[in-house]
Amino acid sequence: MKTALVILAAGKGTRMNSDLPKVLHPLAGAPLLIHAMQAGASLAPEHTVVVAGHGAASVRKAAQAHDETALVAEQTEQLGTAHAARQAAPLLKDFDGTVIVLFGDTPFVQPETLDAMVAAQTTHDVVVLGFEAADPGRYGRLVVAGETLERIVEFKDADAAERAITLCNSGVVACRSELLFDLIDAVDNKNAAEEYYLPDIVGIARSRGLSATVVTCDESETLGINSRAELSAAEAAFQARARAAAFEDGVTLPAPDTVHFAFDTVIGRDTLIEPNVVFGPGVTVESGATIRAFSHLEGCHVARGAVVGPYARLRPGAELSENVRVGNFVEIKNAQIGEGTKVNHLSYIGDATLGAQTNVGAGTITCNYDGVLKHRTEIGDNAFIGSNTMLVAPVSIGDRAMTGSGSVITSDVEADALAIARAPQVEKPGMATKLFDILKAKKAKLQRGS
Ligand code: UD1
Ligand code: CA
Repeated sequence: MKTALVILAAGKGTRMNSDLPKVLHPLAGAPLLIHAMQAGASLAPEHTVVVAGHGAASVRKAAQAHDETALVAEQTEQLGTAHAARQAAPLLKDFDGTVIVLFGDTPFVQPETLDAMVAAQTTHDVVVLGFEAADPGRYGRLVVAGETLERIVEFKDADAAERAITLCNSGVVACRSELLFDLIDAVDNKNAAEEYYLPDIVGIARSRGLSATVVTCDESETLGINSRAELSAAEAAFQARARAAAFEDGVTLPAPDTVHFAFDTVIGRDTLIEPNVVFGPGVTVESGATIRAFSHLEGCHVARGAVVGPYARLRPGAELSENVRVGNFVEIKNAQIGEGTKVNHLSYIGDATLGAQTNVGAGTITCNYDGVLKHRTEIGDNAFIGSNTMLVAPVSIGDRAMTGSGSVITSDVEADALAIARAPQVEKPGMATKLFDILKAKKAKLQRGS
């Protein structure tokens, strides 16, 4: 079944009280829009059209950063959801298949629900996703007769009997492309809001003797975000689901409520995630790894058996091989750490490649930035980097090499060599005693004087 997505994302989102377009507010580390795009991507659509308006340039950027094939239509004036969907027509003029209209502010629609809609579309002209609302509030109401959806009434336009209906419109619609745009052309704005309502296509289709039906889903899937309070409620719902999924996947979370997942976090089984761990986007943790308390990870990969933290920070491009140890107050960025290597205390490793079974002493820093450019540090296998070594990149340390503690290493160290780059130690016999005597005499004089 050929499908195309149209994601409506032009609205201002006034109730967010924000300079950022509503659909770009993040949920679990990704803009709301990306959640909608990801939900729709499960259909493997031929085209994805995002209809942008408020903040169109940044909406376009976010959409295409996520999916470079995404098309963007601009709706310069927000005249309603039918008018918004219509903007996608020129981009889909050569497409012949089922169009699914999603809302950019509705992140939780499930793939199975969309599959059910596409399936229903094979036997009905218009398919609408509906839900039984605990509190129908201002949602549009679905007027059904048996299996047939007769029309949708917006709350503003509904009479008392219609307002009593609890079956509500989610906004998601599936319809053959040609028919959809044909029906949209017939929509007018003679209603309470003076807007072109997309839901009006149902009544228009029925008046032409076409069929329309409802596919229903759980209310939690159709949660739309209009305010910061709803955004935080959605975040809580997302996190609750992510934790439940992690348990199912064999992850141990002694304090689940304190662990924060991103939309794409992947964690293998028999992993232990201690309290207060935060996962930003793009993290994979393989089986048997341990992420200890208060660690922050984003854009990184942790292989089997590795132990990270407590208080570690893994930034984008950190790749930890099997059984690596990264200890407290260690920051790793854009660096590959070889199998069994240990960076246990107070270090910064950035733009670097470390071999296997190497030991990096406390306080080691890769000085990767010269104020203008970034440079790489290479360290071989079985090396020993003494505590408080400054590795001034670009620099490389060979296999089995050592650096003396406190060294500032500015040139390459060959394999098996020991490099010491610090002021040599000077020793003055008896000088400590003499110095103490001088200082004590000074103190006594000061006390007499006071
Ligand atoms: C809409 C439905 C309502 C449904 C509800 C579910 C209409 C007329 N009403 O109401 O039946 O119960 O969603 O949440 O469709 N948008 C544009 N351009 C516009 C107008 C809206 O792109 O000109 C986008 C918004 O950015 C948003 C989506 O369409 O992502 C929905 O618009 P919104 O104004 O929130 O519709 P509701 O009033 O919630
Ligand atoms: Ca809405």
